[in-house]
Amino acid sequence: MKKTFIPLLLLAVLGTTMLFSSFKRGEKKDSIDQRVEKLLAKMTLEEKVGQLNFVVGDLFNTGPTVRTSESDIFNEAIRKGEITGIFNIHGAAYTGKLQKIAVEKSRLGIPLLIGADVIHGFKTVFPIPLGETASWDLAAIERSASIAAKESAASGISLTFAPMADVARDARWGRTAEGAGEDPYLVSLVTAARVKGFQGKDLSDPLTIAACVKHFVAYGAAEAGRDYNTVDISEYELRNTYLPPFKAALDAGSATLMSSFNELNGIPATANNKVMRQILRDEWGFKGVVISDWQNILEMTAHGYAKDSAHAGELAIKAGTDMDMMAEIYLKELPKLVKSGKVDQKYLDDAVRRVLWLKFKLGLFDNPYLYSNPKTEKKQVRSKENLQAAFEMAQRSIVLLKNENNLLPLQASTAKKIAVIGPLADNKEDMNGTWSFFGEAQHPVTFLEGIKKYAKGAEVSYAQGCELYSDSKAKFDEAVATAKKADVVIMAIGESAVMNGEGASRANITLPGNQLELVKAIHATGKPIIALVSSGRALELTWLDENIPAILATWSLGSEAGNAAASVLFGEYVPSGKLPVSFPRAVGQLPLYYNHKQTGRAYEGDHSEPGSERVYKSRYRDVPNTALYPFGYGLSYTTFKYDNLKISNDKLAAGEQLQVSIDVTNTGNYAAEEVVQLYTRDLVGSITRPVKELKKFQKLAFNPGEKKTVTFTLAPADLAFWGADLTYGWEPGDFKVFVGPNSRDVQEASFTLLKSDSL
Ligand code: BGC
Repeated sequence: MKKTFIPLLLLAVLGTTMLFSSFKRGEKKDSIDQRVEKLLAKMTLEEKVGQLNFVVGDLFNTGPTVRTSESDIFNEAIRKGEITGIFNIHGAAYTGKLQKIAVEKSRLGIPLLIGADVIHGFKTVFPIPLGETASWDLAAIERSASIAAKESAASGISLTFAPMADVARDARWGRTAEGAGEDPYLVSLVTAARVKGFQGKDLSDPLTIAACVKHFVAYGAAEAGRDYNTVDISEYELRNTYLPPFKAALDAGSATLMSSFNELNGIPATANNKVMRQILRDEWGFKGVVISDWQNILEMTAHGYAKDSAHAGELAIKAGTDMDMMAEIYLKELPKLVKSGKVDQKYLDDAVRRVLWLKFKLGLFDNPYLYSNPKTEKKQVRSKENLQAAFEMAQRSIVLLKNENNLLPLQASTAKKIAVIGPLADNKEDMNGTWSFFGEAQHPVTFLEGIKKYAKGAEVSYAQGCELYSDSKAKFDEAVATAKKADVVIMAIGESAVMNGEGASRANITLPGNQLELVKAIHATGKPIIALVSSGRALELTWLDENIPAILATWSLGSEAGNAAASVLFGEYVPSGKLPVSFPRAVGQLPLYYNHKQTGRAYEGDHSEPGSERVYKSRYRDVPNTALYPFGYGLSYTTFKYDNLKISNDKLAAGEQLQVSIDVTNTGNYAAEEVVQLYTRDLVGSITRPVKELKKFQKLAFNPGEKKTVTFTLAPADLAFWGADLTYGWEPGDFKVFVGPNSRDVQEASFTLLKSDSL
């Protein structure tokens, strides 16, 4: 027994080593497709399903788990080839150790994918995606993603679950924080920029990572803004609003895509053949990997769409979901399903092919330790340059919402004594915001720290005033006393990091806890107040707008939050951000978005106007229909004059272009940037059309007194949409074009798009 056992064991070990090394050496000259096929041919059914099983690591959990990841069980699963990859772990040394088990101890030595939610930076934390979008600066957004890629890749990660491409029009939905707002055009551009930033030019570059555009699809249209909730929308709405950002991400090269939790028109997205097969694979020709969201294969049983795990697995693989995140249904059920003939082997093989292809593209087969290099890690993580980029991005993300009597920027002469008050004033923990578990909480610069640094010579005092949520007023008196001694009060208020993001829908989108009470108490002192309002969504700020002279939207700004905000408060940087979402006057207006349709009973007047003509109109009795701060809105310390809107022709034909120009003059005293925005309206369509749609914008720098003629080019293709017959194209007819500093305060001109068959 012993005699035969030893040679057999030796043979097995040698065989495994030879298999892997010959695989590595001999086949590199082959194309990736050939290498995939050769490897696939060597795989057992169990090894194949293992390549579809993606599990969370032992550092952070972002959902319910099925497997304890105590290292022995974990390592054993890697050895057995039951795991394709692990996510939300990091560290060159640690990931390298796990990779070694996969490469040296599993039969085929297939390297692991190391995934992570690298959503807005890694150890250097950038503003939350919604905040970054407020910069309307695509180059800066791309740079932010590329820095996140460098830091995380150097820490062992080869795939991020980002960017989120979900259009979000309901501020109750907490995940608004993770995306690029309410407008499909802006979301498309930002999502594509992020994909390019993460992936760079070459996926096998050790400092780039694969992107995963998510969540496919219409996750942001959840009823009542409640996370994971039902979505029932028309195909027009799906194609004109929710799909374009995904298409843009795939056109930018996103290697992977994640299916969403929601059901879409009665069928959970994970098994929704219409979107997963017909649109994604057949129409768009997507060849990359589709990853399920966390257990959403299993959740189809809760939806009442699959009768059990096996049925759920069958539905998901047939719809083209390649990887099972955290349900382990493929691992357990697919072998049986294939053996019984319920699932054609081809579905399994195609999914495995795509996963192997990704691992080849990432360079993992040629060097499994490509991303696990401690030296590179040390050099990349939280480098000076990365922090500087995070600082600049945070400055550019801040939006000035109100600045009565030019209270801002603060002047050394009038702000000799500054009180900094509020639960977010000296709060490191909440500066990084949602999805930032890699950015250690001890690092971010708080508002108080930043203000102390920038307020040269001024006396800075501090009082917390209240907790983020609590009802207690115990600290109000101290805060009021602190305010009374100051010339000016800066209040840092808003949401904590966990009040937005996943599973963080809110039915009330006011300031949490008794923060508004605190603001009122400080306001009663008569001191001028500047409010820094942090949030991962549009908040209802009506009282603040009516009573507080200066308001800045400061989202969650990340590692450099305090420095960035202080540089804006003291005028070192002139705010240039513009809102990517409409801020409502009341929660009851939601969903609220500028690019809505018009009703047959449109009402644009003041809701409080007397007169019976307004009664049967589309309006509220208690608040106007409009946003408090509209999409695209944001002030500067300078002022801009817009005049002389010109259009090169009032007719546009196929193959032609229109030039739309406007003179923009910096009429104030500060050099500043302005985002000049162009919108159109298609007056009559085969389906009704939005009242305005963003089509172009330019962010430009102006010196004081400088005038620029800003010119935009419009072509018929810019006016295309999915019409009544569900084909994509433009329709002849009359259009309006609007140009201005936001979606509300615009100048307009008209043109006619002439009849033609070609785009
Ligand atoms: C989220 C995804 C995320 C995944 C892994 C899920 O709950 O919806 O966006 O990528 O967890 O953490």
